Amino acid sequence: MVKRAGGSLLLSIQINRDAQQPVSTQLFIALREMILTGGFLAGERLPASRTLARDLGVSRNTVIEVFDRLAAEGLLESRTGAGSFVSARLNVDRPKPAQADAPSLVRTAPQLSGMMAQAVSRFGDRKRLPHIPRAFTTALPAFDVFPMAQWARLSAKYLRGARDDILGYGDPDGLYQLRRALASHLRVNRGIACDAEQIFIVGGAQQAFALIGSTLLNPGENVWFENPGAIGARNSLIACGANLVPVPVDAEGLQVDEALRLSPEFRLAFVTPSHQQPMGHVMSLERRYALLKAAERAGAWVIEDDYDGEFFFSGRPPPTLKSVDNNGQVIYVGTFSKSLFPALRLGYVLVPPALVDIFGTIMRKFLPGVPSHTQAMVAEFIDEGFFASHVRRMRTIYRERHDVLLATAQQRLAGLLDVQPTHGGLHTIALLPASMPEMVISRAAEQRQITASPIGRFALEPVAVNGLVLGYAGVSPKLITAGVEVLAQVLEARLSASGKRKPQAAR
Ligand SMILES: Cc1ncc(COP(=O)(O)O)c(C=O)c1O
Repeated sequence: MVKRAGGSLLLSIQINRDAQQPVSTQLFIALREMILTGGFLAGERLPASRTLARDLGVSRNTVIEVFDRLAAEGLLESRTGAGSFVSARLNVDRPKPAQADAPSLVRTAPQLSGMMAQAVSRFGDRKRLPHIPRAFTTALPAFDVFPMAQWARLSAKYLRGARDDILGYGDPDGLYQLRRALASHLRVNRGIACDAEQIFIVGGAQQAFALIGSTLLNPGENVWFENPGAIGARNSLIACGANLVPVPVDAEGLQVDEALRLSPEFRLAFVTPSHQQPMGHVMSLERRYALLKAAERAGAWVIEDDYDGEFFFSGRPPPTLKSVDNNGQVIYVGTFSKSLFPALRLGYVLVPPALVDIFGTIMRKFLPGVPSHTQAMVAEFIDEGFFASHVRRMRTIYRERHDVLLATAQQRLAGLLDVQPTHGGLHTIALLPASMPEMVISRAAEQRQITASPIGRFALEPVAVNGLVLGYAGVSPKLITAGVEVLAQVLEARLSASGKRKPQAAR
């Protein structure tokens, strides 16, 4: 509908009163678009607010508010007593209204920094598997038994504190109360002699790896990396320009001799000694000493990622590498993503004394820190002893879930899938016979809403093992049992499609 009003062309403006968008916003958008697309000429007078309000059936105040917003954007000029005019400046300078689906004016691929362009191409294009609590998603703790009420009480208590403590910028190094609580937790439970000043709080382990890589590595420097190994750490280090050297792992962990053969010069090594990600082995003492010795000789640092070391099922957990680090070469990284929950985005880096100043400078100068709220809650959770009892309780639950997986797998998957026992953590591996390629089985499981991650997803270069990584911690025994049944059906379907008999799983 086109109308003449106040000497100006008034295009039809449809106001939808049922829409969620307020009437004033609808009118603002419509007038703005008319001005920017030339519906009104530069310098042209707009209808009087009273006229426009009457014609559109909206209040005059709404129109005045919209005119004010357009004037604030420099699109209208008000002249007292004369009305509102399209800004004369638009004669020469009329930008087009931005549209959500507008094609990019840049016709070539967006220009990335050389380092990130190279990094992106190396992240791999493997699809991210759904990270939801269902059988057998890896890396998720048990949401179903998390003490929500206790957590809510802590949160409310924190918010009743002093406004100056709650609302301001936090300490970039991390909340001191949390750093102190962690130092004492690490001393008592992980055998690490350390001070709070050595601990820096970050937004999760993956951020810690990026921080370490960007602080200590020059682009192209060699980093020994477990193969298969942790995906997040791999991507963080690649993004820092690392030249990752894939080092095979066996039941004793990273093969140090092989690493020395592949790359005697290295700047950094990345290991998961308490529970090799993803294969699940504990690094032997011999290998730990060999690694530390090699690092000392090369003048290299070692990252110890202790992501789920708290959940050791029987007896005392294996010692941390950091606890035998006499020369200050090991940078220990911890996360609350497994011991509490991943949405916290909370982790920490424990650096050797020689790195305290440089990490402190970096944190203070340009890392924005982590929300004080979550840090304070976690600090209190630890100080009050809730963390220790939560970990103890979860350890028992994860052990039960692990045992349920093993028992049902023995009954239902024998000859199809060889689920390996593990000593702790949130996941284990399961070996497939050669006739059942891991990718094929993983895709078929995905179609039945089961996550079964192929071991190859964790590999920097192909590994000679065919199998799946199965998380058991995040779902109830009932869902584990149901998941095993679905996996059995997927494997049986594959078996009958290939016309084979039940094989013995390869070791
Ligand atoms: C080996 C490893 N380390 C650390 C983490 C935790 O990373 P973040 O703290 O960034 O959640 C994960 C998560 O899955 C992991 O697999």
